[in-house]
Amino acid sequence: MITNKKIAFIGAGNMASSLIGGMITDGYPAELIYAASPTRTRLDILEEKFAINTTQDNHFAVAAADIIILAVKPQLMGDVCSHLAEQSSDYRGKLFVSIAAGVTVERLQSLLADNQPIVRTMPNTPALVQKGMTGLFPSPEVSDEDIKTIDQIMMAVGKTCWVDNESDLNTIIAATGSSPAYFFLFMEAMQESIIGMGFTQQQARELVQQAAAGSAELVIQNPHIDLATLRQNVTSKGGTTAEAIRTFEEQGLRETVNTAMQAAVSRAEAMQKLF
Ligand SMILES: NC(=O)c1ccc[n+]([C@@H]2O[C@H](COP(=O)([O-])OP(=O)(O)OC[C@H]3O[C@@H](n4cnc5c(N)ncnc54)[C@H](OP(=O)(O)O)[C@@H]3O)[C@@H](O)[C@H]2O)c1
Repeated sequence: MITNKKIAFIGAGNMASSLIGGMITDGYPAELIYAASPTRTRLDILEEKFAINTTQDNHFAVAAADIIILAVKPQLMGDVCSHLAEQSSDYRGKLFVSIAAGVTVERLQSLLADNQPIVRTMPNTPALVQKGMTGLFPSPEVSDEDIKTIDQIMMAVGKTCWVDNESDLNTIIAATGSSPAYFFLFMEAMQESIIGMGFTQQQARELVQQAAAGSAELVIQNPHIDLATLRQNVTSKGGTTAEAIRTFEEQGLRETVNTAMQAAVSRAEAMQKLF
């Protein structure tokens, strides 16, 4: 891991905390990490847990760092960046990484500076348990070395997928940002069905979660077997699984999934205009 860059997190919430935790576990030196947020509560926890530098002053963190990770809510991004631009020039030329959904590179450059190197990323919630999937898009000003560094930081909480077109981040939002909720919905529906057949909520949850985790692990451990084959391998002709799968197909599951994912992409496109 490249470990000579000072990294400042602006915002010290859930996502910043998991990234910091992942970096420290990966051996990133704590003294090179800074976190800034308006209140001390989360900063104190981070300082105690990881021995990183903390401050309530965004400008101090930005001035100290080589790379600035913007980890505030999308609706705060405008305020945070314009305060920086008004009160400091220390940041110019430094690499900014945004993890906020829906805030475009163009918007960030309009707030900071036209040629500001920016990597826009789209992490997902499983990053909180180091099983994330992050989509990333670099502005043309970002160097290859910086791309490597950011890749390693995001790899600390899962895997990464770099895209050449910023609009592809909207597909990533539909594919990985929103999709934990799709899986939760499917699990929820299964749980309700199992409860309807007489099991307790806890039993139903355990049955579903174990099947989901085990299926995901089979996918991960068999990268050479495509998903359709994995499915066919557990679907004996004339058996119970075949009957359930036939029902899903007849009810148009694939079409529903496709329509839902297109809807997520459209919403992501519309949200880009909000922030
Ligand atoms: N959580 C996820 O799974 C996830 C997934 C994908 C993308 N994201 C993106 O990640 C970003 C952060 O999300 P989160 O879940 O980590 O949010 P969060 O837990 O609410 O954390 C937001 C942090 O921003 C701080 N903050 C508020 N105003 C600030 C300011 N003016 N300057 C500096 N820091 C400020 C807050 O500090 P106080 O606590 O002191 O108010 C808090 O530490 C969002 O843009 C979100 O879209 C999150």
